[in-house]
Amino acid sequence: MASHTLVKKQGGTAHRAALCSCPRPTQACIRPWALLIERLGNFFDEERDPLMTQTEDRTSLSTEDTPLVPIEKVVALSKRRGFVYPNSEIYGGVSGIYDFGPLGVELRNNIRRYWWWSMVQLNDNVLGIEGNIITHPRVWEASGHVENFVDRLVDCKNCKRRWRVDHLPAENLEQNKCPFCGGELTEPRTFNLMMETYIGVVEGERMKTYLRGEACQNIYLDYDNVLKSSRIQIPFGICQIGKAFRNEVTPGNFLFRQREFEQWDLQFFVHPSEMQKWFDYWKEYRFEWYKGIINHTDRLRFRAHESNELAHYAKQAFDIEYRSILGWQEWEGIHWRQDWDLSRHSQYSGQDLSYTDPATKERYIPWIVETSGGVDRTFFFLLLDAYEEEPPSDKDKEGRTVLRLHPWFAPVKVAVLPLQKNKEELVTTAKGIHSRLKRLMVAQYDDVANIGRRYRRQDEIGTPFCVTVDFQTLEDQTVTVRERDGMTQIRLAIDELPGYLVEKVTWK
Ligand code: GAP
Repeated sequence: MASHTLVKKQGGTAHRAALCSCPRPTQACIRPWALLIERLGNFFDEERDPLMTQTEDRTSLSTEDTPLVPIEKVVALSKRRGFVYPNSEIYGGVSGIYDFGPLGVELRNNIRRYWWWSMVQLNDNVLGIEGNIITHPRVWEASGHVENFVDRLVDCKNCKRRWRVDHLPAENLEQNKCPFCGGELTEPRTFNLMMETYIGVVEGERMKTYLRGEACQNIYLDYDNVLKSSRIQIPFGICQIGKAFRNEVTPGNFLFRQREFEQWDLQFFVHPSEMQKWFDYWKEYRFEWYKGIINHTDRLRFRAHESNELAHYAKQAFDIEYRSILGWQEWEGIHWRQDWDLSRHSQYSGQDLSYTDPATKERYIPWIVETSGGVDRTFFFLLLDAYEEEPPSDKDKEGRTVLRLHPWFAPVKVAVLPLQKNKEELVTTAKGIHSRLKRLMVAQYDDVANIGRRYRRQDEIGTPFCVTVDFQTLEDQTVTVRERDGMTQIRLAIDELPGYLVEKVTWK
């Protein structure tokens, strides 16, 4: 949990299917899909434990002693290859605001979809919503943000660097000294982080409100509607992914601390007597979730909040932290919110948000377990976790930069490469394979430069598979499939490709 004042208060067998490319599939076209589903049939046979199956197909990577990646490397790659761009760059940019390029948007969507799948789709007692960024201004009075969502800030009188008081090392705080140059610090000043906006057009009649400072507030606002419209009963959860806005006084470290960012939240509503049980459950679930999506699992830990960090109502809070070049930093917070949010909104709105147990008729304000993380921070940590520069080896004489992203997250799943671009039959066959595969997954066609350079281009953006069409293809209808991490190659019939690749890149 971030340490803003308020926030302190506050998871085979080959088949012969050729996939058609008709815009409107007919019965004949559906057959190959049926075969594909047949091949993937065992997905549906068993009750799968979502947390235990996430890493089963991964090539085992040796990640010991891999150096921590400097942020500049990831920033440079992101710009060069179209993952992330500085927002409004032609006007000089805006600190703490970024745009996502063609590969970035694919990666982001994959990250979001996987979270949604594992939080909403797999859990029968969890539902999803999508609330608006702009709400009634009273929401932020009830939540305490208008009054308390503040950072305290000091400036160095000598080097002019700006520091958040809660980020200063204890000795610098005591001695009033800048951690960078030792210069004297100014008196702390307090800043509210909420971004203001106005609803309406007529001056004097416009209503001042705020862009939401934390996305989860919509979940409390919609809690009663979800309860009544879905007939779900406590214990149950509501999930949401959405943008949040904070006038961070020290934005920086690329995507780590931004002014516009995206959060994912689960708010799980329970009977007070079951709070501890569900808190422990979601804490573990979310930790295993993060463990399942990274290579360096030794860089993940829990950090319990100190008693002086805890909200006045909170019995406990844990951050799931990741160790990068920035040190241990929060990735997601697991928060014991108790009845604070629903009580406050009841009080401020005048609406009764208590729950009546249908069996016992007991009436109470539900308590809440919150798991709150960031899409952007996940994006950032995944890049840092996956980025590697490999020196020249027997397998690759020039060395390469490789993004060892999980195939689920990779923005491009497969690249189709004709060995030579001046051989018409190779090109035609490769384009045919590409147009079939792109109906199933994000696939790129590339015929520019020699095959080694094309492999390296794909390694750098994390493409898990490259399919090469060569002269043997023209004789026996087989292709080479090269896998990114081990650079191993296998020969596969063209008809086997869709099933083979779908199985590798689909989460299950
Ligand atoms: N509803 C609780 C809440 O908002 P938080 O710890 O302030 O708690 C939750 O935020 C998550 O949102 C963090 O763990 C982090 O992943 C992400 N986050 C918070 N502030 C951020 C920022 N300025 N830039 C990017 N991500 C941020």
